[in-house]
Amino acid sequence: MAHRPFILFSIIIICLLIIAFFYLEYNNNITTTQISPPVSSSRLNENSTTQLVSTTLIAAPEQTQKSTPRPKSNPKWIKHTYKGNKTYGPIPFQKKMECDSYHEGKGFTFKQLWNWSPVRIFIGIWTVADTFEIRNLLRTINLKQQLNLIDDKVDFRFIIGIPPQDEYTPKLKSQLNIENDTYGDLIMLDTIENMNKNKAYYYWKWVAGYSEKQYDYVIKTDDDAFIHFQNLALNLRPLPRKNLYYGFENPAHFVYGELEVLSIDHVHMIASSPFNQTEWDGHEDRYLGYWLMNHANSTRILISENCLIFNDPRIRKHFSWRPWASPDSIVIHRLKEIPAWESVINLYIPDLKIFIT
Ligand SMILES: *[C@@H]1O[C@H](CO)[C@@H](O)[C@H](O)[C@H]1NC(C)=O
Ligand SMILES: *[C@@H]1O[C@H](CO)[C@@H](O)[C@H](O)[C@H]1NC(C)=O
Ligand SMILES: *[C@@H]1O[C@H](CO)[C@@H](O)[C@H](O)[C@H]1NC(C)=O
Ligand SMILES: *[C@@H]1O[C@H](CO)[C@@H](O)[C@H](O)[C@H]1NC(C)=O
Ligand SMILES: *[C@@H]1O[C@H](CO)[C@@H](O)[C@H](O)[C@H]1NC(C)=O
Repeated sequence: MAHRPFILFSIIIICLLIIAFFYLEYNNNITTTQISPPVSSSRLNENSTTQLVSTTLIAAPEQTQKSTPRPKSNPKWIKHTYKGNKTYGPIPFQKKMECDSYHEGKGFTFKQLWNWSPVRIFIGIWTVADTFEIRNLLRTINLKQQLNLIDDKVDFRFIIGIPPQDEYTPKLKSQLNIENDTYGDLIMLDTIENMNKNKAYYYWKWVAGYSEKQYDYVIKTDDDAFIHFQNLALNLRPLPRKNLYYGFENPAHFVYGELEVLSIDHVHMIASSPFNQTEWDGHEDRYLGYWLMNHANSTRILISENCLIFNDPRIRKHFSWRPWASPDSIVIHRLKEIPAWESVINLYIPDLKIFIT
């Protein structure tokens, strides 16, 4: 008899515990579903420029996460500086360019380029120290492109000079360290930042000594140029692996700076030659052409691709402008602001959902 109240009491406690358990469980479910409300797409469209940047902030990490062993953690936007408000429409696009590519001129279709053996390419993207945002965009685009490559190999690094003393603040130094600790893709050449004095020589010299991997071709490009990795590789496949100098040719027999392709033997040739200021003291693309003319005139094979390398069709006509892009395009140049890249991504890397339109 004395036990009866105790049994009753126990039953009540057990019931309370069960109720509490279900209550907590229920609440928990509610909280998790409340965390991520669906985003209205009409809201996203309201102001495209703002959205471009803020959605990039969120979307970029997801894409590279499982994709590549290279970044030690996910790309994230270290510094959010873009304040522009210019909007860019889509790049005009047609199945076929209005010109013939180098290979089409020789009677080969784009599809036939797959029949040649694959190539190994290194791309040095020239940039300057404080352009964190464009590097993050290019990194995301290029890591994705690497994954999509079929048989060819394309590696890239960002090439900067040493920032001038008054700009090289402790803050900048630490930002660069954080960035490179994360991605390991920054190369600082052994010269003060410059475009047309000696960066070219120090770049080619560094690449020649960079022996982590072997490459058939080494490239210099700028951070305002989109390079389609697979199309570039396909167009290089049939070309000579030696003595090659390839790009969009100026009548003065040099190729423009948005894409300078050298076969690796040319790179070693430059690196083994001592630095001579008179030979590099001018526009880096023009002076590379002169250097090759002076040192490899009889052997150099200059191949010009003046159809598939061009300036953004949306901007004013310029020497290498084309009215539209096509699926075969190799380089689209003069993408000077982040929003200008949106259409490029929609056209060529649609599975990379950086921008929401
Ligand atoms: C979008 O930008 C325009 C122009 O800068 C501005 O007038 C407008 O208020 C912005 N809209 C939103 C929703 O922020
Ligand atoms: C865009 O920005 C510039 C300055 O950055 C300003 O002068 C111009 O009024 C802005 N245009 C719009 C549509 O907000
Ligand atoms: C960035 O990291 C890579 C890989 O660790 C290293 O080779 C390179 O020298 C570093 N660059 C800078 C500027 O520290
Ligand atoms: C440097 O290059 C110039 C132009 O090609 C040439 O005239 C000069 O002899 C070179 N100097 C040396 C030390 O090789
Ligand atoms: C290079 O070769 C061409 C002929 O192939 C010749 O006209 C030109 O003068 C040469 N230039 C130099 C710098 O040797």
